[in-house]
Formats: sequence, C-alpha cells, structure tokens
Amino acid sequence: METKLWRGPPFPGVKWAAMEFLERGTGPALLLVHGFPLDGGTWEAQVGPLSGRFRVIVPDLPGFGKSPPSPAAASLDDQARALLSLLDSLGVTTFAAAGHSMGGYIVFALHRIAPQRLSGIGLVSTRAKADSDDARKGREETAQRALREGPGFLADSMPARLAADGAPPELLDRLRSIMRRATPEGVAAASRAMASRPDATPQLGRIAIPTIVVAGRKDKIVPPSESETMAAAIPGAGLAWCERSGHMPMMEEPEVVTGALLKLR
Ligand code: MLT
Repeated sequence: METKLWRGPPFPGVKWAAMEFLERGTGPALLLVHGFPLDGGTWEAQVGPLSGRFRVIVPDLPGFGKSPPSPAAASLDDQARALLSLLDSLGVTTFAAAGHSMGGYIVFALHRIAPQRLSGIGLVSTRAKADSDDARKGREETAQRALREGPGFLADSMPARLAADGAPPELLDRLRSIMRRATPEGVAAASRAMASRPDATPQLGRIAIPTIVVAGRKDKIVPPSESETMAAAIPGAGLAWCERSGHMPMMEEPEVVTGALLKLR
C-alpha cells in the first residue's frame, strides 16, 4: 500500500521528525498505531474494511517500517506529540485511536496529553501497567544488543512468542519480514521509551469516551486476565475476545478486530 512521508514540527528537543504513513478512506479519522518491533503493515487486513467508514491513518513509528529513526531519544509521550503534529498537518482535530501493544501505550499517552481530541479508543493486546524493574532491565539489554548487532535476533526469536501456538508458517514469515525492516536505533529508542513509560492504570477510570478492548485468548505476552481487569476499569468499555489469537489478533483473526474497531466513532 502506498505511503506518504510526513516531516513535522519537531519532537521536543529534536530538530525534525519524519514518519511514513498511509491514509485511506473518508469520514471520521481513525489512527492505527502499531506495536513493537513492528510497523503499520500489521494493520493491513483492517485498512480496507475500516476505510469504508473512516479516514484511516496508519503511521510507521520512527525507526520502523519505512520511517527513519528519530535523531534523538523520544519518549512515548514525544511520539504521541509527533502523531498529534502529523494529524494537525492533515487537518484532523478529533479522531479515534487504536493501538496494538506498544501502540496502546502510545494511545494512553495521547489520552494523557490531548484527551479532548480523542473520540474513541481501541486497545488491542495491550496493558495499562508500567514495566517491572526486571522488564526494564530486559528492555535495556534489548536496546544495547540491537545497537551492537542489529535487530535480527528479534526476528529470529519473537514471532513464535507473538503468535498463538500452531500459527500458520506464513504468519510467522510475515512477522519476521516486518521485524527485519526495523532499524537498530528504532528498536533501541522504542525499548527505552517503553521502559520509562508511566503506569496508565490511574487514567483508566477517567476515560470518558467509547472504548473497546480487544484481546487474544492465547496471548503469551499480555495475559487474558490483565485485559479483563483493564477493560473492567474503563467505564463502559467493551471487551472483544479473539479466541484463537495470541498477541497478534489483527493478523490472526482480522475480522474480529475489524468488527470491534467498526464500533468506534
Ligand atoms: C508489542 O507487541 O508492542 C510489545 O510486546 C510490547 C511490549 O514489549 O511491552
């Protein structure tokens, strides 16, 4: 799918930022934010059906997919601000936002920074809690290893953890090829940004817009019970289960995810 390059007003403290993004359809805007160490292509199956109702905007976050890495460290809040600038440049004031995993952390950042601009929220295979100390340590090891030897080790080890057991080989191949496009700088920056993200749990009760939580029953990264607890803490939130999915329901059970996101406005 054809993408465009946005060069934006800077992230705070950074000279410039640039992101490739895909835009399709007309109607209310819907931003789809990908997870780690992935890119906007993970939403491929949703773009067509959702663009019948929404103006769908799918960025590759800095250092992933076709987007160049950010020239300096960017927190998830900085990335949320960059996305707001991208949307400003498209004349989008209010929008629904759905985020997968790390993308969900960025949706929480959008909600912290500019709640008035959000009309609906989709939280796909993500969590509100911040990292434990052990998880932070692991992120730093990932960052240093990616900078030292490139992110190939993630493409070798992660796909089988992301997909449910018994996933078709084509899905694992697709995940591998997406991960191989990630840059060392992008992986390091995103790992460090995730490690320093705040706990979004206190925000949950303040989410006052339509929200749908989507979870894979076989997710090995975000346990189903955590999705259940998160959905219960958000007033009026829906919870859509993808019974056969691991951590990648948009690719494992695309029609369930599309159906859930069609409920946003
Ligand atoms: C993701 O899919 O974005 C990652 O699993 C998120 C994380 O490592 O916390």
